[in-house]
Amino acid sequence: MENPACIPFERQHKEQAKSLLSGVLPVPLVRLSQRLEEAIDRDARLGLAHVAVYRQADQSERVVGIILAHLETTTTSLETCCAMIYVDALAVDGVFQGQRLGTRLLERVLVPSLSNGLRVREVYLHTPCHDNELIMFYRKRGFVPDGDVVENYYPRRWVRPPHAIVMRWRPSETTTATPRAL
Ligand SMILES: CC(C)(COP(=O)(O)OP(=O)(O)OC[C@H]1O[C@@H](n2cnc3c(N)ncnc32)[C@H](O)[C@@H]1OP(=O)(O)O)[C@@H](O)C(=O)NCCC(=O)NCCS
Repeated sequence: MENPACIPFERQHKEQAKSLLSGVLPVPLVRLSQRLEEAIDRDARLGLAHVAVYRQADQSERVVGIILAHLETTTTSLETCCAMIYVDALAVDGVFQGQRLGTRLLERVLVPSLSNGLRVREVYLHTPCHDNELIMFYRKRGFVPDGDVVENYYPRRWVRPPHAIVMRWRPSETTTATPRAL
């Protein structure tokens, strides 16, 4: 099977991305649709929204993974900014899990300077407090729980118990990233 490619999120991926995320992002479909529009107009330009696409036998593309993140703080110029990035969602189609797609998508956000010149101060996210497998997934990729439990973070019908922890990733002192021209 051909290895799916991780590419910037674009409008043509929106409907498939919506199906993939509808079980993962605890927001109503209308809000999810708005969030994907923001990702197309804003986050993808900053290298913070990517999809993994698999080319099918008929040459059509199937979206099999997605990461959505956004910039929370910035200074005036992209070249000098020190960014705080929040990961809204990361999801990989069940059939394609375990093939490093989740890791590759996450790396796109952890090293966004590869695509846009952002200098990252911190990347953080929420994860269900009871999901040890997911917590381990992020731990192995350098994220550390900040110790607090955010009570009732998720809608109850979505995640039980509905509490979250925050996990944070910071670049090591030795991380060097050469910004490319925008
Ligand atoms: C978490 C997730 C994105 C990982 O994607 P992936 O492509 O399977 O990940 P990779 O192949 O890069 O890494 C595999 C690792 O993930 C772990 N993993 C596999 N399925 C998993 C799952 N359902 N939940 C958490 N971790 C999982 C494996 O144990 C493996 O661990 P390893 O690092 O010891 O090898 C994917 O499992 C997923 O979409 N889960 C459902 C949605 C979700 O929970 N998203 C995160 C919150 S927004």
